[in-house]
Amino acid sequence: MDVTPIPGAALGAVVHGAHVTGDMGEARSEEIWAALDAHLVLVLRGHEPPSYEEFLAFGSRFGHIPKTGLTSGAHPDHNEILIVSNLVEDGRKIGVGNAGWMGWHTDYSFRPRVAQVGFLEALEVPSSGGGETLFTDMYALYESLSPEDRARLHSYRVRHALRTGYEETIEEELQGEVSLGESTARNQPEDGTSTVHPLIARNPRTGRRSVYISTLNTERIVDLGPEDSRTLLDELLSHAGKPEYTYAHTWRPGDIVIWDQLGTVHAKQPFDPAERRVMRQVVSIFDDPAGPWRAEVAA
Ligand code: OGA
Ligand code: MN
Repeated sequence: MDVTPIPGAALGAVVHGAHVTGDMGEARSEEIWAALDAHLVLVLRGHEPPSYEEFLAFGSRFGHIPKTGLTSGAHPDHNEILIVSNLVEDGRKIGVGNAGWMGWHTDYSFRPRVAQVGFLEALEVPSSGGGETLFTDMYALYESLSPEDRARLHSYRVRHALRTGYEETIEEELQGEVSLGESTARNQPEDGTSTVHPLIARNPRTGRRSVYISTLNTERIVDLGPEDSRTLLDELLSHAGKPEYTYAHTWRPGDIVIWDQLGTVHAKQPFDPAERRVMRQVVSIFDDPAGPWRAEVAA
């Protein structure tokens, strides 16, 4: 396995020769963790394409893999695996998502137990281009703030609610399958589509702090009035997509991208809807749900 930082990119490295299976040794998984801590986004290439079971087992080495909670759009035998695709076959969407722009978000921020690592694999990519996935470093945003601003932000809490564009699927086909209630209690890993988290998260592996918000799924800073909340969120979110903090991944079939979900937000570029784009995704969540919310006091 070798790790090569992506030339000219603010974050991201290419990893050649990983074994995308569950049975890698501890030393190997620690090597991947270390690369992830350093680069935040890893592009796996030159590996044997994993089976669905291997993909899931590989992800499980990096935290707990919750079910998606969807009754369609997930793999029929492995609900933990999300199919992201614009395709419609026999009158049914084969997965979730579409060919449009997907705004900045981090997966499962609307659940009490948030995402730790994302794993996305390209099975088919549009030949005419588009459909790149973008990642912006949110640790860098925190680290760019003055000590005064950091201290203020540490006192705020934020309401997150599901707004990825997948709720349409939930409303029409999955009614009742995903709790729409608010839950801050420690529940099942799949629980909740709305919740409140501190504004500042802390990566329990590295101690780095990130501004944990997004465009799609962040509703409001609950400690501020609606206007002040909107102004501050807009100001902070203007960071997302800035080239100096962003890596844009152009997919090749077989690529697996894994990323730090606590310290980055991601988005997807539009593509020609007449093209085929098929991805599979799993997401790990923190084994300890309180892990990212410890040490909320600024260092
Ligand atoms: C998602 C997502 C990115 C992509 O489905 O949550 O972030 O490139 N998809 O399809
Ligand atoms: Mn996502």
